[in-house]
Amino acid sequence: MPALQQKAEIIRSEKLTDDICRFTVQAPDIAADSRPGQFVMVRAAEGMDPLLRRPFSIHQVRDGGLLQILLKVIGKGTQALSKMQVGQHMDILGPLGRGFTYNSKHHHYLVGGGIGIAPLLFLAKQILKKNEPSTINVLLGARAKDEICTLVDDFAGMGLEVKVCTEDGSLGKQGLVTDLMAPLPDENPAMVYTCGPYPMLRAVVGVCRDKNWACQVSLETIMACGLAACLGCAVLRADMNGYVHVCKDGPVFNADDVAWL
Ligand SMILES: Cc1cc2nc3c(=O)[nH]c(=O)nc-3n(C[C@H](O)[C@H](O)[C@H](O)COP(=O)(O)OP(=O)(O)OC[C@H]3O[C@@H](n4cnc5c(N)ncnc54)[C@H](O)[C@@H]3O)c2cc1C
Ligand code: FES
Repeated sequence: MPALQQKAEIIRSEKLTDDICRFTVQAPDIAADSRPGQFVMVRAAEGMDPLLRRPFSIHQVRDGGLLQILLKVIGKGTQALSKMQVGQHMDILGPLGRGFTYNSKHHHYLVGGGIGIAPLLFLAKQILKKNEPSTINVLLGARAKDEICTLVDDFAGMGLEVKVCTEDGSLGKQGLVTDLMAPLPDENPAMVYTCGPYPMLRAVVGVCRDKNWACQVSLETIMACGLAACLGCAVLRADMNGYVHVCKDGPVFNADDVAWL
């Protein structure tokens, strides 16, 4: 399906922390086509600064054509978007890229770090349509409690078991999300779906290899176009013989298809 462009009205704006907010927008056409792991390119519809859209995972799709993004302020683009108010419009292009693949053969481990937790809520909801909650484990890591407590409640509200760790120990176990993976039984066949900062992804892939678990990673790169036109989102292939492009071939890849440097 070609990507759609919509001027989407902001229906709800939630401030989860000083620098993380969640927007719910009315984007029925994009919402109807969206799959977990896909992303949208977003900018404020009013004004031209910044000119380029920014990529965001599709956080959730809700009844009534609603689409949610979870946004962490990093620089100029996210700063401008974070200040938008209910009733204003976002200029959204999507859905873009290849998302997660899932079936009923596996035990599902959803492993998210920080803002990388964003696409996993939508994924959990879709897996639950054909699978029992007991087939899903959610493992979440963040720097501190504030960053994730709302998201933990969202997963728990779906009836899912959620294990949490924070670097400062303010919620759950103190440590890194891979510390939550290591003691898990080597249940097989298992599929790990993960998104987060690159060092976390590399460590998660390492644990998966030790446990012989299949793993899909959602990668983030700087993206200028999101449409396979600028080639700025190239990532080295596992065989070191060329590149894949995160906006077109991903953002979700089988972990064994990309190089972990
Ligand atoms: C597929 C995909 C999905 C994403 N999903 C989300 C999401 O759900 N929620 C969310 O908050 N963010 C998400 N991001 C990251 C988000 O797109 C960036 O934080 C945003 O583009 C930064 O724009 P900016 O104008 O605020 O910062 P800029 O001014 O563009 O950049 C500020 C600084 O951050 C660096 N930077 C910018 N983007 C990235 C990046 N992707 N990786 C590493 N460094 C970067 C720049 O080099 C610069 O140093 C996603 C990115 C991708 C590629
Ligand atoms: S972001 Fe331009 S080619 Fe991927």
